[in-house]
This record gives sequence, C-alpha cells and structure tokens, in this order.
Amino acid sequence: MTIFEANISTFLMDFFKTNLKKIKAIKDANDLLEGISGIKSFFKNDKELVELKNKIKEHTSTFEEPNRRAYGDFQTNEDLAANVVEHLFNNGQSPQFVIEPTCGKGRFIHAVLKRFTELEKVVGIEIYYPYVWETKFGILELFLKDKHTCKPEIEIIHEDIFNFDLNSLAKENKHLDTLVIGNPPWVTSSELSTLNSNNLPKKSNFKSHKGIDAITGKGNFDIGEFISIQVLKNFDECKGTFAFLVKNSVVKNILHGQWKTKYKIGNIRKLNIDAKKEFNVSVDACLFLTSFNLSPEFTCRETDFYSHKEITEFGWHKNKFVYSIQGYNKAENLDGKSSFVWRQGMKHDCSKIMELDRCNGHFINGYKEELTPEKNLLYGLLKSSDLKNEVIKSYRKTTIVTQKKIGQDTSYIKREYPKTYHYLNKNRAYFDKRKSSIYRGKPPFSIFGIGDYSFAKYKVAISGMYKRTTFSLVLPENDKPLMLDDTCYFIGFETIKEAKIAQKILNSNIVQSFLKAIIFSDAKRPITKDVLMRIDLKKAYAILDLEAETSELSGWRLFGEKFNKKEENSNQMTLF
Ligand SMILES: C[S@@+](CC[C@H](N)C(=O)[O-])C[C@H]1O[C@@H](n2cnc3c(N)ncnc32)[C@H](O)[C@@H]1O
Repeated sequence: MTIFEANISTFLMDFFKTNLKKIKAIKDANDLLEGISGIKSFFKNDKELVELKNKIKEHTSTFEEPNRRAYGDFQTNEDLAANVVEHLFNNGQSPQFVIEPTCGKGRFIHAVLKRFTELEKVVGIEIYYPYVWETKFGILELFLKDKHTCKPEIEIIHEDIFNFDLNSLAKENKHLDTLVIGNPPWVTSSELSTLNSNNLPKKSNFKSHKGIDAITGKGNFDIGEFISIQVLKNFDECKGTFAFLVKNSVVKNILHGQWKTKYKIGNIRKLNIDAKKEFNVSVDACLFLTSFNLSPEFTCRETDFYSHKEITEFGWHKNKFVYSIQGYNKAENLDGKSSFVWRQGMKHDCSKIMELDRCNGHFINGYKEELTPEKNLLYGLLKSSDLKNEVIKSYRKTTIVTQKKIGQDTSYIKREYPKTYHYLNKNRAYFDKRKSSIYRGKPPFSIFGIGDYSFAKYKVAISGMYKRTTFSLVLPENDKPLMLDDTCYFIGFETIKEAKIAQKILNSNIVQSFLKAIIFSDAKRPITKDVLMRIDLKKAYAILDLEAETSELSGWRLFGEKFNKKEENSNQMTLF
C-alpha cells in the first residue's frame, strides 16, 4: 500500500485510521505523533494532513516507481544498515546527534534508533518526497511497536542536499557526539549529463579541472564523492564519526586529495562490502569510516567488512600515493622515472567505421558493410582483451591508420588510396559527429595517439583496463607493426632482442611487486601512463644484472648501454 507514493504497512494504516479519525487540527496531530516518535512537524501543513486522511479512506493501491537513475537510488537493505550500525556500536560508538544526508527510505535512521541509547537529535534529508514519508512512517511504526526505544528529537527534511546548509547544522550541534551516516547517490556527473539531469551541485567542476582534463573526462566526478567531501569539510571540527557506503574510488580519491585538503580526519578505514549481494550492482564498494577532529591523517586501513580480514594499508607514504605501504617499503627503489616514454595506443572514436573484420579476402565494418580498401593503410589492431598472452602474433581486428603523426594532412589518401578514400568519405558524417573537441579543426578522418612510436615493429604492451600486470610482447605480421588501441600502453623497439629484454625486466618479480604496491586494481583503469612512467627500468636492469638472471638473453649488455647513452644525452628515449 502507498500514501504520498510511499510504502506504508497495514499496521500503520490501521494506526492512522484509529488515531487521526477525530483529529482536525494539524497541531493536535503533530503533537500526538511527536509524543510517540520524536518526529517534529510530522505534517508540514494542513494539506498534508487532509491528504493522508483522504488516502486512508480511499485505501490507495500500489503505484509504479519512477526511474530514479539520476538520483543514484540504491537503498541500503535493512540487514546491511543494521550490520553497519552494529559495527559502530561494537567499536564503542554512542552518538548523541545523528545526521543522514540523502536518507532515502531511512533504513540507517531506523537502525540507529534501534541501537543507540544516548541519542538526542536525528536529522534526515531527502529530495524524494515519497521517501521522506516512508522514513517518517518507518520511524512512527518503530515507536508504536517498541515504546522503550530511545526517543530523540527527529527531523526528516524534504530538501535538495545541494541547497542544504550543512555548515550551520554542524556548528549548531558541535557540542554533541556526532555520527554522519549514510549512503549518498551512486551516480556520476557524466551519467547525469547523459540523462539530462541537473541533480548536481551548483559548481559542477568541483575539482577545478581545466582544459584537456575536462575534455578527457577527468572533470567527471561522482556525486557521492562530492557529498562525502561536503560532510568532511563541514564536520571535521565536530567530535564524532563519518560512516558512508560509497564506491571504492570515492575513498581512493578523497585520500589522494587529502595531501592538499588536509581535512581534520583520522583513523581512516575502508571496509569492503559485496555490492553485488547488497545492491545487485557490479561495482567495488565499501563502508568508509573516519573520525573527525583529529590531526589530518593520510593513510587508510582496508579490511573485509564481513570477515574483518586485513587487506592492505594504502595512501600517502614517503611522499608517494601507494596501494600497499608494506609492499612499497620492499620495492620503493624502483620508484623513479622511466627512461622509456610509455605511449597510449591509437584513438579514433569511430570504431564502426575504422575497425574492420577480415573475411575471405575482403573486410567488413561495424555496420556489416563489405569493403576492399587498399592494404597500405591497414594495420592489425590489438585491444585490451587481446593482450592475454606473453607473446602476441595474431590479431582479430584490422584498422585504418589515416595519419603517421597527429594533425598530418590527410588529402594524400584521395590521391594515393582512392578506394580507402571513397570508403572514408562516404562515412564522413560519422567522423564529423565525434563529440570530443580534440578532433575540432583537425584534417578529415584524424586520429590520435599516433606518431613514429606507433610504427615500431616490436612492442611491449599492457592493458590499462585489467588487474593483470604482466606485459606482452607484440610481434609484427609480415614485417608490418601491429597497432594498439587507446586502452593499451606500450613501448616500441626496432629489434626483437631489445623488446624481449624489456619484457623480461618488466615481468621480473621486482617490477611486478612494485606495480602491485602502487596500483589500485579496482580502479576503472588500474594501469595508467603515470603508473608506468614511475617504473625506473634502469634500476630494475641493474638489480637483475647483479642477479645475472637473464644470461640466456643475448644483447643484455648492449641493452644496458642504452641507459648510459641516455644519461649522456640527458634526454628520454622518446623514439621508443
Ligand atoms: C544510494 S540511495 C541511499 C538512500 C539511503 N541513504 C540508504 O542508505 O538507503 C541515495 C539517496 O539519495 C537521494 N538523493 C539523490 N539526490 C539527492 C539530492 N540532491 N538531495 C537529497 N537527496 C538526494 C535519492 O533519492 C536516494 O534516496
């Protein structure tokens, strides 16, 4: 059954029927309900009281819930809310003031009321009107069923959190032991822009990304992260605790930013939950716990929420941001600057036209159209999922490489490769539709992530998208180099000997341990150019040299001379 589109139990319907029948004035109704449950202004105006009474008469039926994707709506189940609260209780928490921003159906508020006995004040804020009611109904029912529950002053506020004055609330209640608990919306600013939703803070670019970062998506941010930061900022001088269910990336980003923000938070913990089981979503999520009003801390202990098993301690350590402090202590001597420049693969944002399948001597594009372009501009293409083996000799997809370097004039294609030109030109609209501003003002059919390095015959490559940290050796086909797409990173070599040695060094235990200590394997792109550029290959070479591990590899000494040459020129080996 629903009232105000909020679910309501038969128990509560019967209660309202019996108790509101004779009540006409809103004050009388509110006094009665505050007396039972502590909820202030249960009805905000006469209209709400009249509507509820009418609805009881009509015996409203169920309604279909609207799509609430733009509100990141994943309600915490009762058990999880109770377990989180139990965890806090077992760790000595006994708050006087609890606030749940974006409280939804109020499962955390219900759990808190059931567990804590020192409560003086509880505030919930929620944008969705039916949930405001569902929270109030739930609280009322709780008090009707258990008269001994501690009865604080309760306010459930129907408001957009982005308009709510958290700062004043924090200041007013600074004297109380505080718990900010909840589960903020699970949605990002870019999803909201796709949904045409304005459920955003006023200043959306809150991390002040500029230029290329804003274009490439670094300006994209998580709404849950924004709300968490607002709470940390406004409450960090209150005594108490912060306990939010968030995506793992939120904790990582906040910890990363802590170097600059220096919020007065300490005892920072991340307790991993199973989001598939709890919310039926495939994301890595956790309970993010921290205490306010401490000297700023920069590391976080990660454990499993259910088994309490210790996983790692991550954060800022020796001026570096690392995933495993313990692992880093063992591998830190490899943290430096790569002598080789790692490159990201090619980007075209037009896969249906640019990526082709081979089929009996001709090619088929993503729209199932057949074509027979000249072979010269065609190259084998590898994607992240193709980099599973140690040596890669074959490929599934073929791609058209329209330029040899970024911005190159493409008019030569019409003169030299008419069939390829005809195909590209016929599909020009797809290229012109590309949203990213990097293509603006560039020659037709432009691509990115292309340069001399793309044409190196032998490549040592890795996917940016997987946890796997082993490197693959990519061999040419009939002397023609294979290309990688922009989900992959690589360094290139002109001889197979050099490529094999580089692969050997990169796959050695010391480099692998170093990578495991610095990468966050649950990130969307665990391996980035920044990560790879931190591997000091010269040091790794020197360590392995001492161990003479690679004696079977001819050319090992010559390879080492590359590093010395580099020092003479004091230039990076950019060619590779
Ligand atoms: C992930 S759900 C969690 C709800 C509740 N905290 C819980 O743990 O079950 C996020 C909630 O945030 C609410 N919400 C989304 N945008 C909001 C906004 N701008 N202001 C207040 N609440 C908002 C949604 O309606 C939804 O109830």
